[in-house]
Order: sequence, then C-alpha cells, then structure tokens
Amino acid sequence: MRSLWLDRPLPSHPPVEGGRSFDVVVVGAGITGLTTALLLARGGARVAVLEARHVGAGTTGNTTAKVSLLQGTKLSRISRRHTAGTVGSYVTANVEGQQWLLRWCADHDVPVERRPAVTYATTPEGRDDVVAEFEAARAAGLPVEFLDDPGLPFPTTGAVRLADQAQLDPLDVLLALAEDVAAHGGVVFEGSRVTGVSGHGPYRLQVEHAEVTADRVVLATGVPILDRGGFFARLKPLRSYAIAFDVPEPDALPEVMALSADRPRRSLRTSSTGGTTRLLVGGAGHVTGRAESESASLAELEEWTVHHFPGARVTHAWSAQDYRCSDDLPAIGALHPGADGILAATGYDKWGMATGVAAALTLSATVLGGEVPEWAYPLRSFRPGRASGADRLLRNNATVAARLVSDWAKPRVHSSGVVPPEGMGRVELDDGRPVAVSTVGGTTTRVSAVCSHLGGIVTWNDAEQSWDCPLHGSRFCADGTVLEGPATEPLPGVDEDQVD
Ligand SMILES: Cc1cc2nc3c(=O)[nH]c(=O)nc-3n(C[C@H](O)[C@H](O)[C@H](O)COP(=O)(O)OP(=O)(O)OC[C@H]3O[C@@H](n4cnc5c(N)ncnc54)[C@H](O)[C@@H]3O)c2cc1C
Ligand code: FES
Repeated sequence: MRSLWLDRPLPSHPPVEGGRSFDVVVVGAGITGLTTALLLARGGARVAVLEARHVGAGTTGNTTAKVSLLQGTKLSRISRRHTAGTVGSYVTANVEGQQWLLRWCADHDVPVERRPAVTYATTPEGRDDVVAEFEAARAAGLPVEFLDDPGLPFPTTGAVRLADQAQLDPLDVLLALAEDVAAHGGVVFEGSRVTGVSGHGPYRLQVEHAEVTADRVVLATGVPILDRGGFFARLKPLRSYAIAFDVPEPDALPEVMALSADRPRRSLRTSSTGGTTRLLVGGAGHVTGRAESESASLAELEEWTVHHFPGARVTHAWSAQDYRCSDDLPAIGALHPGADGILAATGYDKWGMATGVAAALTLSATVLGGEVPEWAYPLRSFRPGRASGADRLLRNNATVAARLVSDWAKPRVHSSGVVPPEGMGRVELDDGRPVAVSTVGGTTTRVSAVCSHLGGIVTWNDAEQSWDCPLHGSRFCADGTVLEGPATEPLPGVDEDQVD
C-alpha cells in the first residue's frame, strides 16, 4: 500500500560507507530527523542522517499532515492529567513548531494551504468532549469558537473550530528538507539501518553493512530503537488508516480539516497534491498487531466515506503508526536519565507535524549548547515528577505481559504443509516452535514468529501483508525484514518454498 504522498518518483541517496565519522548522527529521515539535522547543519555541526529505508518511509510519509494547534481532544486529555502550566508548554511547543515549519515552507516554496481546524461530535457524549476541548483550548489561550453546526455533510452535535491552521503534502516538506540539509553541508544516507550504538561518546553506530562514529546521536526513529531508556514500555503503538478519494464534485468538499471527538473516529481533509483535489479520510485505528483484520478496518473507512460522500472512488489507501506516551505528553531529550549523548524524541500521538519540529528545536539546541526553550522542560523524556501516567503505564504493561503469556500458550495448528492462500499468513507450531507462514506474490515464506525485540508472537496484517508484533509495535515484511518499531533485527528464516 502506498500513500498518496509517496506515489511519485523519489530521489535516492546512497548508503553510508563504513569508517566515516561525524559530529552528530541523526537516525531517521522523517520530520523530526530531517528538521533536527537541518538545524544542526545550520549551526555548523558535521551531521549525517542515517535512514533505514528512504526519506519519508516512516510515519511522516504516511501521515494526514495537518499542521494544527487544535488536535482533536488532545488538550482536554492533557489537562486531565497535568497542570495548566504543562498544557501551556505543550501548546507553546506546538505554536513554535508550527510557526517554524510554515516560515520554512514559505522560504522554500513548499505549498501550504491554510484551513480552519474543527473537532466535531456526532453523539451527545461526544458533545461533552467537544465542550471540554473548547474549554481546555480557551484556557490555553487559543482563539477557538464553539459551533453547533460545522457544515459537514452529516449530522453533528457540536464542534470547536480554530481558524487559520494548515495542511500540506508531507513529502514536499521532507524532500525539500533533505535538500536543505545537503545545502548546509549535511549528508543524508538511505538504506542504512542502524542496529546498535556502543561506546560512551564518541559513539560507534552499527549499520547493517558498516560502522560509523559520532560524538552525539539523535534517535528520530518514531519509537527509539535502543531499549536503554525503556521507551517502548511507556509508549502505545497506534496504527491507523488513510484513504484518498476522487469525488464527483471536488469543489463542494468541506473546506475544513475535521476530526471527530467520538466514534467512529474520522479525520477529514482535502489534498491538491498532483493538481487534483481529493478527499482524504483517516481513522479506524487500533493498537498495532491487535486488530481482528486490518483490511476490515480499511473497508470500514471506505464504506463510511462512500455513504457520506456518494460517488467517492478510492485512489490510494495506506496505514501508518504513531506512538502515545502513557502520560499523553511527547517525550523529548535524553535516551536515559542524566546522559544526553544520545537523544530521542517520540510520543507525538498522531500530532508530530508541529510537535516533531518542536522536538527538533529542542534537540538541536541541546546538542549545539544553545538555550533550550522553557516550554521544552515539561516535555523532557526524563524529568523529576514525570510519572503522572503511572496508572496507565502499569495497565499497558500488564496488558502487554498478559498478551505475551497468552500468545505463547495459545493452541495453534501444527505445520501440515498446507500453505496459506495468497495474501494470507498464520502462525503454526513446528516442533514446538511458533512459525509465521505466509504467501505473498506466489511465494510461501516461513520465518520465526518470535519478535526479535523481546519475544512477542507476531500476527498477520492482512492489509499490509506484514507480521506485526502486538507488544510494542515492531513490524516485519513477510520475509522477516524489519519495517519499523523498536526491533532492529529481522525474524530469522525457517525455510522457504515456492508455490507453483
Ligand atoms: C495515520 C496517521 C495520520 C497522522 N496525521 C497527522 C496529522 O494530520 N498531523 C500531525 O501533526 N501528525 C499526524 N500524524 C503523526 C505524525 O505523522 C507523526 O507524529 C510524525 O510524522 C512522526 O515523525 P518522525 O520523524 O518522528 O517519525 P517517522 O516519520 O516515522 O520517521 C522515522 C524514520 O526513522 C527510520 N528508522 C526507523 N528505524 C531506523 C533504524 N534502525 N535505522 C535508521 N532509520 C530508522 C524510519 O524508516 C523512518 O523513516 C499522523 C500519524 C498517523 C499514523
Ligand atoms: S515489539 Fe517488543 S516484543 Fe515485539
């Protein structure tokens, strides 16, 4: 599945050669990594970006790319757990991130469309959530208004609206950022998956085919790839879906970026990428690896859209994941307490277009020894008192532990030689070992079903045709190659045979 944004020829960058040494290596070429690299290169650092796949391969290339300060019901959720000061810091971080990005886009001819953002409800309970968001946003100083009818083509019970937000094509941004990194002396390497970091500064980074060194390392990999800070245990990997549609009357589409406060969760915007105005609909999310059927989630989204926008026709469908911290705040800063040689940023909870830039501003100031903005303090990954999500943290980890035990104990069919039908996969037992068997493109592949991160049993994703881990969200191709998540090692092969 390819996103609307990635459906274009992409420039390529070579893999890194061994033996190179840099002031800073940034791992990951999404919005966080490339913005951080640019700020560091502008600040005079010798910086390299090491990207496992290609620029935009992760969440940023598969986002819905609203750059908004009104973020669904995010502010009321943060307000329930944190002080007004912390909510204010979160909003200021997003204002700074959003303004930086929009200024940079204007300076680099990257198109941006200004749109109002709307959080709407379709149920009486949802209206209460919208009212709570309105109040939280007002308290944080955002000039929101409450509307009984936001003008969407289905009945609503109320909405909150914030004028003058923005939507864009995230690949336009990433490709221009990569060029700007190079223009300032930085280097972007693709096909360079980092599998480990050793030493205490300078650090040695193990890449699949090489080793490089760096004085400082920034992990901009979504969930950090190194387990040292235990981030994976604080984060919930949330996978969701997006579909682009051609519609019979594009000019009649609502000119807002909308997000529901209640179920069904839906995100709406338009896109004029490639000169065609399309409708984009997102939603149907779930924890990675824990859906009954991912393709059913996509079908649900399509059905809903065709019902509300008759004649809509799918042009692109895709999915992606982002991570939510147990205390609802992003986590930006040291990978583990007291040491800032290795930095990381994560936990954007599907709002990384502005927060990721705020993270880049924070991380680059930390590395360059500049003044770290005051708003960054409450968002630091480790700071005294950052434990207000402890209840949810314990619950999440209890669920993960229970899932680990039950998945290992689950009765499974024994390998019988009967191959799964095209596009399908299942976990079977072979000599007592869980084996993940799938058939994709006529090839049946057998790999270990034991996640190379911490031993979860992977499940088949029938939309992406991948193996997804229900514990911390690592994902693997049918042949076991790592796609994303905290894992850096593949699922080892068992054996392989061709069908036909
Ligand atoms: C469906 C969906 C819709 C969203 N919509 C919005 C929205 O409208 N507005 C908004 O603000 N946010 C939205 N988000 C969230 C936002 O897109 C993300 O928060 C943001 O893109 C994350 O950027 P990132 O740079 O941190 O991570 P990514 O873009 O995922 O970049 C990480 C990069 O690191 C690379 N990598 C991983 N491991 C390694 C390794 N070992 N070695 C080298 N490279 C590695 C990956 O290949 C990837 O390219 C959405 C998220 C989803 C899932
Ligand atoms: S992602 Fe952690 S065990 Fe699979």
